[in-house]
Amino acid sequence: MNKIVIHGGNPLNGTVQVSGAKNSALPLLCATLLTGGEHRLSNIPQLRDIRTVFELLKTLGAEVDFTGDSAVINADRVESIEAPYDLVKTMRASVLVLGPLLARYGHARVSLPGGCAIGARPIDLHLKGLAAMGAEISLDHGYVEARVERLKGATIYFDMPTVGGTENLMMAATLAEGTTILENAACEPEIIDLAKALNGMGAQISGAGTDTITIEGVDTLQPMNHRVMADRIEAGTFMVAAAMTQGDVLVKDATDMQAQFMAMLTLANGTSVIAENVFENRFMHVCELQRLGSNIRIDGKQALVEGVGMLLGAPVMATDLRASASLVLAGLAADNTTEVSRIYHLDRGYERLEEKLLALGADIQRVAI
Ligand code: EPZ
Repeated sequence: MNKIVIHGGNPLNGTVQVSGAKNSALPLLCATLLTGGEHRLSNIPQLRDIRTVFELLKTLGAEVDFTGDSAVINADRVESIEAPYDLVKTMRASVLVLGPLLARYGHARVSLPGGCAIGARPIDLHLKGLAAMGAEISLDHGYVEARVERLKGATIYFDMPTVGGTENLMMAATLAEGTTILENAACEPEIIDLAKALNGMGAQISGAGTDTITIEGVDTLQPMNHRVMADRIEAGTFMVAAAMTQGDVLVKDATDMQAQFMAMLTLANGTSVIAENVFENRFMHVCELQRLGSNIRIDGKQALVEGVGMLLGAPVMATDLRASASLVLAGLAADNTTEVSRIYHLDRGYERLEEKLLALGADIQRVAI
């Protein structure tokens, strides 16, 4: 076993490239079992769980060529439909082969994952969903065995949003007969990434990223050609590391937090540069932050944020979801009163934000106008 030794105190400086998201790559790799042909995936992180899923794919009969961060997977000849205990026990995400195998072959045997370090996480919701789609499910010597002639579309309500369950059923439903609606589905960006890849294969999925996902079953799919999304957890970790060590780090390929970070940087020592490369019009919160006394200059796609000693409360107007959050954050740190209007943007993405902040000690309230 190794250990990491840290002598603290060095500010972090420089540029860091965020890797591909493990939790996106794992379901994407399992989705290659849905159809034959050469699947191409890039931006795959080199991690133990990824090596495990490649082992699993090979055990099932797929050919895997993994070079650098790219993989070519050929699942033309899947010879086994069984995910064995030895692989599933080391990685719970192995259960994600259940949906694709069942949808393509009408038969799958997958070892039960058992408990794990973050609690007993059952797969009952995966199984209930597949049963609602017509699968016969039995438990046999620690294995789940599922059989069906062809899965049929169904409306499935998850008792709790489950990431893996949503992914497993979304994959299974792509080849089902008719329409499947997943309600109370998990909304993680990794689910959006999987839906994008599946739609690229010819699937008909809408609503991924919301709590209701609709999948119109199709008869055939093509191989996937997809770049795995960046790992948002890793990106967030580097951002916190830079802030904690008072460093200066460019996190490449990272999270959609520009507006919130800008609010924070209005109070930082020195000048920060924020580049917005994804959306036009994503600096609309700047004028509003300026109303609170911040010092920000826009120069094309860049915003130069000169930290100020304090922000002063003022009426401001939200223009989009992230902008609303940044104005609330700035208001929390500002002197006197800030009134944020047009908060219907905020309500699209944050549930009871003001109540949660109130519980954390903020002086905040929602007022009817
Ligand atoms: C995913 O696990 C992630 N793993 C986890 O990250 C993450 O912590 C978790 O989602 C929550 O965000 C991957 O994406 C590979 P769940 P998952 O099904 O899909 C209960 C990492 O390595 N539940 O959303 O397994 C379950 O007990 C890992 O990065 C049922 O009761 O999580 C839990 O309380 C650490 N029955 C809750 O739902 C079910 O059938 C959420 O689990 C399924 C889940």
